[in-house]
Amino acid sequence: MTATPSSDIAIEAIDLVKRFGDFTAVDGISFEVPRGTVLGLLGPNGAGKTTTVRMMTTLSEPTSGTARVAGYDVLKHPDEVRRSMGLTGQAATVDEILTGRENINMIGGLYGIGRKALTARGDQLLEQFSLTDAANKPVKDYSGGMRRRLDLAVSLLAAPPVLFLDEPTTGLDPHARSELWEVLRDLVNDGTTLLLTTQYLEEADQLADDIVVVDHGRIIEHGTALQLKERAGAASLVLTVSRAEDLGAAADVLKRTGHEVHVEEGPRRLTVAADGLGDLTTAAGWLDESGIEVDDLGLARPSLDDVFLSLTGKRTESDEESPS
Ligand SMILES: Nc1ncnc2c1ncn2[C@@H]1O[C@H](COP(=O)(O)OP(=O)(O)OP(=O)(O)O)[C@@H](O)[C@H]1O
Ligand SMILES: [Mg+2]
Repeated sequence: MTATPSSDIAIEAIDLVKRFGDFTAVDGISFEVPRGTVLGLLGPNGAGKTTTVRMMTTLSEPTSGTARVAGYDVLKHPDEVRRSMGLTGQAATVDEILTGRENINMIGGLYGIGRKALTARGDQLLEQFSLTDAANKPVKDYSGGMRRRLDLAVSLLAAPPVLFLDEPTTGLDPHARSELWEVLRDLVNDGTTLLLTTQYLEEADQLADDIVVVDHGRIIEHGTALQLKERAGAASLVLTVSRAEDLGAAADVLKRTGHEVHVEEGPRRLTVAADGLGDLTTAAGWLDESGIEVDDLGLARPSLDDVFLSLTGKRTESDEESPS
């Protein structure tokens, strides 16, 4: 089969497998990413996310299977693949000793961008990533968030149609994270196709049109954020009453939501399904009127951990060792 660069599928994984010795890190992964959309590759430590991205970006040869980027096969046309994509790896790749501007000029020079165009593009990217003031400082004096942003800016120099981002916001504070999400949304609105790996359900939720959940090198779920969350169960209201004798009355109050109330006597805790913050304020009002003394009332949302729990029946571990 010949390459089809005009395809509407910007990224395609075709039964990718990667073995290291007798350990299988990626065990037959396939998916398609339509042009101009975002795919989130979600999974815990060691799931095989980076290994998958490395195979799709020509950095590592698949044991079997292949991938296509912008219609080009990574095995048959690696140069065309590299020309069609940008990559921000999990570890920052910018040079510590150089300033932000010098990093941009160096990489831009490698891409063969002319001096004038490079200055203009550099200005634009520095501005876009809020790095204008830091442009002339050495990167070793940058914060983690600034490094991630510079890394991303550098990978966008050649304005690639396809962008791979490996855990772009790991280690960033919530503010820096949402700033980066904003930038990524703009890129996608301008037509870039994005594949990002993440350990955060919220990140996939915020950015991805489609989410592939991987664990132990396999796809265990594939769907939209909404479908995944439904899989993990809805949000719930969690109420702890001060006095055990109020449990019954509190259950009656929460039943007004129309959902089944789950009561745990020991911790004096009641749980009921909820749609969102509105339900929390409504329930707080009812409890206030009823004179029931409350220790705690909150909204619990499904976490990535809950998704994994519901999909695999086990909690994720931070440093997973594969059995045998
Ligand atoms: N070069 C290698 N040699 C041997 N094993 C490897 C190699 N690279 C990765 N692995 C193993 O493959 C598995 C998948 O690793 P990978 O880096 O793809 O996971 P990940 O999903 O990116 O995890 P993280 O969220 O921690 O970045 C891990 O068990 C890892 O130890
Ligand atoms: Mg990784």
